[in-house]
Amino acid sequence: MDRKERPIGVFDSGIGGLTVVNKLRTLLPYENIIYLGDTKRNPYGTRTAAEVIAYTRQILHFMEKKGVKLVAMGCNTATAVAYDTVVKTVPFPLIGMSRGIQTAKEISLKKRIGVFATPLTIGKHIHRREAAAVDPTLTIIEQPCPPLAGLIERGIVSGPEIMDALKEYTAPVLAAGADTAIFGCTHFPFIQNLFESLCGDAVVFVDPAHEMALQTLDVLKKDDLLKQDGKEGALHLYFTAEAERGGNSAAHLIPPHKFTVEEISLT
Ligand code: DGL
Repeated sequence: MDRKERPIGVFDSGIGGLTVVNKLRTLLPYENIIYLGDTKRNPYGTRTAAEVIAYTRQILHFMEKKGVKLVAMGCNTATAVAYDTVVKTVPFPLIGMSRGIQTAKEISLKKRIGVFATPLTIGKHIHRREAAAVDPTLTIIEQPCPPLAGLIERGIVSGPEIMDALKEYTAPVLAAGADTAIFGCTHFPFIQNLFESLCGDAVVFVDPAHEMALQTLDVLKKDDLLKQDGKEGALHLYFTAEAERGGNSAAHLIPPHKFTVEEISLT
């Protein structure tokens, strides 16, 4: 197969990375994409780093067997704990999930930026480190949100359980004077409306998936891998459990007839 025809691989612990797929398809409509959601082992963000590194290796091996030309990690947690360990072990370009710092910096007047993410991601301080490199005058307010990705994954996107959790997590970020906040977990854009309902006009939310798509475009261009034949790309979704639920979540973002779904086992 022509190298340009090969698919881009995207993965996450579950449905979250579909928010990245959605942005990739908007910017790169001709690209073939395969997606793997590790729904059987979700959530990653409350597991150990060693577990997430092992799962990431397994998924990258799967992607290699599928003949991908590039992998874009649709998971902040895997990026935070596994990227540095695995990047040299794969025979294709590997893009870690973008942090969204450039976009947030442009928006924030107060230079005070909140980051909502999983405990594993926050523990690695990847947003804080990138912000320090981009502009040392930025203040990053880190907020771990332990149960959120798991709730969203299980379809609990309204009601007291998720609202109580969100109130607990947004309050300190508001109190610290953030005027901009980054979704540091790819599941969170699914509940942007809930975040906004609690923060009102005080905070602008940034979904780094757009930066991720731009970064992917840059790498494809640089490596002469861009598919530009004008034919709409295919999208195939793999899930390690509950593929039907995964397909239903995807249908919220992408019209159902535009993708196919399959359940697989990685072990
Ligand atoms: N969506 C993922 C992320 O961006 C993982 C969430 C989880 O499984 O805890 O971090």
